[in-house]
Amino acid sequence: MNIPDPHIIVIFGASGDYINNHLPKDFAILGASRTSLSDLEFRERITEFMPPEGKSDSQFMERISYQTIDYDKNDDYEVLRIRLDDIRKSLNIPANYIFYLSTPPNLYGIIPEKIAHAKMHTERDGFKRIVIEKPFGNSLSSAKELNINLLKHYEEHQIYRIDHYLGKETVQNLMVTRFANGIFEPLWNRNFIQRVEITSAESLGVEGRGGYYDHSGAMRDMIQNHLLQMVGLVAMEPPVVIEADAIRHEVMKVFQSLRPIRPEDIPNQVIRGQYTSSTIKGKPTAGYREEPEVASMSYTETFVAMKFFIDNWRWAGVPFFIRTGKKLPTRVTEIVIEFKPAPHHLFDQNGLNENTSNLLIIRIQPDEGLLLKFGMKEPGAGFKVNQVNMDFHYSDLADIALPAAYERLLLDCLMGDATLYSRGDTVEAAWGFIQPILDAWTNDPSIPIYGYPAGTWGPLESDKLMENGMKWRFPCKNLSDDGLYCEL
Ligand code: BG6
Repeated sequence: MNIPDPHIIVIFGASGDYINNHLPKDFAILGASRTSLSDLEFRERITEFMPPEGKSDSQFMERISYQTIDYDKNDDYEVLRIRLDDIRKSLNIPANYIFYLSTPPNLYGIIPEKIAHAKMHTERDGFKRIVIEKPFGNSLSSAKELNINLLKHYEEHQIYRIDHYLGKETVQNLMVTRFANGIFEPLWNRNFIQRVEITSAESLGVEGRGGYYDHSGAMRDMIQNHLLQMVGLVAMEPPVVIEADAIRHEVMKVFQSLRPIRPEDIPNQVIRGQYTSSTIKGKPTAGYREEPEVASMSYTETFVAMKFFIDNWRWAGVPFFIRTGKKLPTRVTEIVIEFKPAPHHLFDQNGLNENTSNLLIIRIQPDEGLLLKFGMKEPGAGFKVNQVNMDFHYSDLADIALPAAYERLLLDCLMGDATLYSRGDTVEAAWGFIQPILDAWTNDPSIPIYGYPAGTWGPLESDKLMENGMKWRFPCKNLSDDGLYCEL
């Protein structure tokens, strides 16, 4: 197993759960935030997030320290620099620093700038990396501004923008499914694929994050990052090598080929919804507008379904449908590839039997795995065709625990591998695609936002995005099940 070089992680806004298995012998963690805490108090605070082995390992705990900091004050960063020097000298660690920003997004500009001002960013004596959580900007212009500010002091290879979906094992498996098998890739194009569908559904609501969410909404919170990154991996060309820039280059080409949705097409191609109060499993459930810290007349969307096209050689004419929402019937993320039907209806002369479409379902979570649906003969006289399932579940690989997305991403950052992080230009391209939609929603009050009762699959209008008999799949918790009412 590869072990990262000795390093010090500085966690701004510290409250972390950084776990030890893969760490080198020489490492240290320095928490930094406004709250005044001693090293001991900080250690106590974080033990609740640690496994028992960590807590009882006094050598591990001694490597954790804390520094109070006023994020705006240059002097405090001087103190931080001196503190880091002391720590590394006493532990004999080179000046390899990771600055992890676990702070509100309004500090993403100032902290990296002050770090640079205190000269802690130069790589002369060791690597210096900045890890930034989402949201990366709140609009195309703010994302651009953030990138410009970061790039004033840092090289792109020093900046690690987190999209935790890329850290999910099953999202990475998409590349393996496509490029390690001979059977899928030859079919992976407009000649054989009828449509692509991506659903990321949540049964939870905003869960105490109303203050943040009401200024964000599903388009910014989920589509701009997680869903478009999945689109990138589904649609990209094979990269030249499995390496950060080669892969991100291919994702960027997909984003560059997204056909912009014209203002006049927005009402027909993008459906937004907001959950309303209802009864789920016999329990009354509040609507979004009744959630704490949400404006009582909020127009923020908790659901988005959209249809778009990728204008390139591979995907010309293939519709992509993506949707996400809160308070839907179940928590599930999956990618559905629907293949074109057989060209001639030999067994079903009217061609009316809907049960024969070939679907490949890549389940991201839960019940991670792959499902292939195809037609088989029903036993008995005649030729009645039935759709059957062939499925693989990750849980069958019993010995292999799926690492948590954040664990994987942090370890990659320690190793200097940015493959599963978003590059600045791709983040901007993703914003560029959705910004006209956000603008239209803000500026044109005639574009409706549809209510949907909490616990349902979103507004019925989202079905109208589909044509020619196509339908959304209504996935259940178990990969092989689907149907409107799967989790009573
Ligand atoms: C986050 C969003 O990025 O992703 C949340 O801010 C959302 O609103 C979450 O709930 C979903 O992540 P996961 O891993 O639970 O699918």
